[in-house]
Amino acid sequence: MAIRIQPSILSADFVNLERDFESISTADGIHVDVMDGHFVPNLTFGVPMVKRMQEITKLPLDVHLMIENPDTWAAKYAELGVFSVTVHLEASKNPSAIAKEIRQNGSRAGIAVKPGTPLQDVAPYLDQFDQLLIMSVEPGFGGQAFIQSSLEKVERASELLGERDTWLQVDGGVDETNIESLAQAGANTFVAGSSVFRAENRNTQIGKLRDLGLLGQGHRH
Ligand code: DX5
Ligand code: ZN
Repeated sequence: MAIRIQPSILSADFVNLERDFESISTADGIHVDVMDGHFVPNLTFGVPMVKRMQEITKLPLDVHLMIENPDTWAAKYAELGVFSVTVHLEASKNPSAIAKEIRQNGSRAGIAVKPGTPLQDVAPYLDQFDQLLIMSVEPGFGGQAFIQSSLEKVERASELLGERDTWLQVDGGVDETNIESLAQAGANTFVAGSSVFRAENRNTQIGKLRDLGLLGQGHRH
């Protein structure tokens, strides 16, 4: 088992991304939040920006699409050669077709659920995806407080995934106060925006989060 820490660049300096990428060199991947101002009330960037990110870093890019119409857009991100592309269940018309297209373009396929979306809605699609993302804040903004009930949702998601090797990812308000219990509940892939970017030494903070995650994983029964 492994613990993966993926800092979210939503908390980075958007005009100094290259420098900020270097400050998180020990991360397992970089979480890239794409927002369209429609699916969520915030706007970030699109394909051209992600294309440049892919060109300037060797770290795997984990693209989180918080956009309407992922059925049309997901493949365009996968075509860039990014490591993974995650779409929201709530925005997807045909999740199975999206997963297939993402995988055909060589990326891992992820499916995300908002805090209010029940796990039973995503259950029928789990076999087609490589990672399941549990949102632990309402998507849209970094720096929000972790929604406590997400811990139990992660536990149930882990049970639902059973023996599958699907990665279980948590995004929103993840920090040193909750990562150990989240890992104990079965999560293995962690997005951390503000908790990494506000740290004095970002790589030290990534190491601290990873160690706490491993500790939690060790307590799983
Ligand atoms: C929220 C984004 C997250 C966010 C996490 O909509 O999907 O990736 O940047 O940031 P923190 O860790 O600060 O909650
Ligand atoms: Zn995200």
